[in-house]
Amino acid sequence: MVNKQSKTVLVTGGAGYIGSELVRVLLQDDFRVVVFDNLSFGGESLLSFWGNPAFTFIKGDLRHDDDVRNALQGVDYVCHLAAIVGEPPCKKYPELALEVNWHASVRLYELCEEAGIERFVFASTCSNYGKMAVADALLDETAELNPISLYSETKVNFEKYLLSQENSTITRTILRFSTVYGISPRPRFDLTVNEFTRDAALGKPLLIYGENFWRPYCHVSDLARSVKMALTADAGKVNGEAFNVGDTGQNYTKKMLAAEIGKAIPSLEVNYHPVVTDPRDYKVNCDKIKNVLGFEISKTVPNGITEIASLFREQVISEPMSARYGNV
Ligand SMILES: NC(=O)c1ccc[n+]([C@@H]2O[C@H](COP(=O)([O-])OP(=O)(O)OC[C@H]3O[C@@H](n4cnc5c(N)ncnc54)[C@H](O)[C@@H]3O)[C@@H](O)[C@H]2O)c1
Repeated sequence: MVNKQSKTVLVTGGAGYIGSELVRVLLQDDFRVVVFDNLSFGGESLLSFWGNPAFTFIKGDLRHDDDVRNALQGVDYVCHLAAIVGEPPCKKYPELALEVNWHASVRLYELCEEAGIERFVFASTCSNYGKMAVADALLDETAELNPISLYSETKVNFEKYLLSQENSTITRTILRFSTVYGISPRPRFDLTVNEFTRDAALGKPLLIYGENFWRPYCHVSDLARSVKMALTADAGKVNGEAFNVGDTGQNYTKKMLAAEIGKAIPSLEVNYHPVVTDPRDYKVNCDKIKNVLGFEISKTVPNGITEIASLFREQVISEPMSARYGNV
């Protein structure tokens, strides 16, 4: 185990949905944290860290070498979360997605080598599995990756690049996150559990496409903990390894999600649409991270639904439909 008190962690994309929760978890565990972000969605998520002597913010763009070099000074570990996240923004801004998710990510790694970084954790995605070849099969880390969008193509390519760096001195770890839910300092309500629950809590009927398609889900605070665990594990356990992050018991179809939401919000009205707008359909086995790192989730999808429903029931969010809670 590493002596974490002496380590400084750079979080790229640290102002984002998962990044801002990761910053909270790392600071709580006595790491020094540097956030590097171009604030595409603003920087309010960082306000509660402001003034903490263990926290530094550097505004910069991953595509600019000088910004990245500056951010890497005095850093030991890098958690790379900055990206154009999700298929809708990647489809809308394909060149930007390629630049950030692929070219600038490779360049970041090269600059990490130059800077003598010890560990590099990459936020990848279970979307890389695309569509199960065999219905209902549980996909583990050895399953073939089948990217069916530009977003996951860029993620798969960067995973392959990282795995190919066999002579690197950096301990490299790939975390394939499940689809995230729950509240963080930068909430997003464009992700399935959060969006469905928000709409249901606001009394809107749900219109669901592809109701029988599977996905794994994981709470944002558990994902943040998984990153910390990857950073602090013995290097031999995580170097050159990919881990699905979540829990094997947390695979749901959208129909199952609607049923769970209906338990919390009995007035829910659900309509199903026969058109499939998103062909991704995958059930994931997350036993490796449990067995190798001892990672256990602390929250389940029903817990997340309760969390989001109460947020709207108590009218904590003043403009729930605002574009600021999305990524496009
Ligand atoms: N949200 C999910 O369900 C999910 C699932 C699997 C994997 N992931 C991965 O986790 C990571 C974080 O996702 P998120 O949901 O927190 O997304 P997010 O969009 O909330 O955060 C991304 C952050 O990156 C920053 N950023 C974007 N381009 C940048 C650039 N050129 N330079 C500097 N900063 C830049 C943005 O300003 C933003 O703060 C991403 O790599 C994403 O692919 C997310």
